[in-house]
Amino acid sequence: MPSRPHPLPGAALGLVLLLALGLPALGLPAPGLPQVRVMEGGSTRGPLMSGTPETPDPAGPQVIAHRGASGHAPEHTLAAYDLAVRMGADFLEPDLQMTADGVLVAFHDATLDRTARGPSAHCTGPIRERTLAELRDCDVGSWFNERFPDRADPAFVGLGIPTLEELFQRYGASVRWYPETKNPDERLPGQPPMEEVLLDLLHAHDLRDPAVERGQVLIQSFSPASLQRLRELDPELPLVQLLRASDATPETVDAVLDAVAEYAMGVGPNRALVNGAFMEAARARGLVVHPWTVNDPAEMDRLLSLGVDGIFSDFPDVLGARVRAWAEGKDG
Ligand code: G3P
Ligand code: CA
Repeated sequence: MPSRPHPLPGAALGLVLLLALGLPALGLPAPGLPQVRVMEGGSTRGPLMSGTPETPDPAGPQVIAHRGASGHAPEHTLAAYDLAVRMGADFLEPDLQMTADGVLVAFHDATLDRTARGPSAHCTGPIRERTLAELRDCDVGSWFNERFPDRADPAFVGLGIPTLEELFQRYGASVRWYPETKNPDERLPGQPPMEEVLLDLLHAHDLRDPAVERGQVLIQSFSPASLQRLRELDPELPLVQLLRASDATPETVDAVLDAVAEYAMGVGPNRALVNGAFMEAARARGLVVHPWTVNDPAEMDRLLSLGVDGIFSDFPDVLGARVRAWAEGKDG
């Protein structure tokens, strides 16, 4: 495996301790939440890679739970995040949208229509035009049961949109975080910059220093301007630039990664961009590579064999199993 110019810390010590001490210490799942199921073959990941709770392996490819364990439970719900923790994911990924009254919530789309159910005045249209109080009326679990009847669970009905603060309160420093600023350049009048609110929350929940010192929080965005704003606010924060498949070609990849390396420690490419040449170009610039979003085990294996540093997946259980198999094959 190529050397890692920006070695990320291994799984957060807190998460390792959590696994060692047992999840009941965290009280998961909390009363009122569904007893989410681990699918066959998706046992919890257990001790991370070859490390121990005292010496977590810093070199293992990272399992990034995309929108929580969103293949198994409704994306960006506490059920999906709880399950990702139970599956031993290395990172939880909240996409961040801002409400009309300036609150960061975990939600992917710019509009509510795909995943929210409830009073149309509160649960349709652009999320940035709804206050947090209005969003409290929205159910973001039922759509999953409609869309995936084979994975439906009555307990998903009525699950709400969590704020980032609620997520930090629930899991805090016991997990690692990979927040994404969504639509950060489309503020309504009076709304604070998303980056400022995020940084305030990191400080309030004692996550800023662990982010800088141990990579416990990596901040990602498709918006270079958003990452630049974060860098201006705090030059030490670890930043990851997301790339769509159309953002680079074999002819432009060197220039694209040159620009990214000016302000970010890593790149999150659409998986279709990642091949040997891309990895070589990223390595030459000291960039960590975390492709998204990979749910096919064969594609996971391809990317792991190329030496990626982590992968976003809706199925952290499946990805964890592939990472373990890859590590065993590498060591054996
Ligand atoms: O953040 C990585 C990946 O999640 C980007 O795509 O649309 O799922 O946020 P999206
Ligand atoms: Ca994302």
